[in-house]
Amino acid sequence: MKGKSQQNGREKDVGEWVRLCSLKEAPEDNHVMEAEIRGVPICLAQVEGRFAALDNICPHRQGPLGAGWIEGGAVLCPWHAWAFDVQTGLAAAPAKGKVEVYPVKVEAEEVWLEMPVDETA
Ligand code: FES
Repeated sequence: MKGKSQQNGREKDVGEWVRLCSLKEAPEDNHVMEAEIRGVPICLAQVEGRFAALDNICPHRQGPLGAGWIEGGAVLCPWHAWAFDVQTGLAAAPAKGKVEVYPVKVEAEEVWLEMPVDETA
């Protein structure tokens, strides 16, 4: 059962932890940066001391979220300032949209991101 685990008697998709960058390369608190893992563009943010990783492509007109900024605990797109919650990926009203949010951890001075396992691989 590659890429699956049991939780409460139900199968749950399990990702693979992939190194994103070193802590020295990561954005300072309340800043964002652009990154890429396996061809997937990522926005890495640090908000009040905690890292968050989101899709880097804004669902509005494909602006680069990692070139934006942090405001009110959300990532703001640099093109038209849609604000995305770093926990849920949801755009703040009146905008409607959502970006993928990836689990992040810091281990051994490195930032890691959990990528979904490609079941077709
Ligand atoms: S492209 Fe992101 S708000 Fe328009």
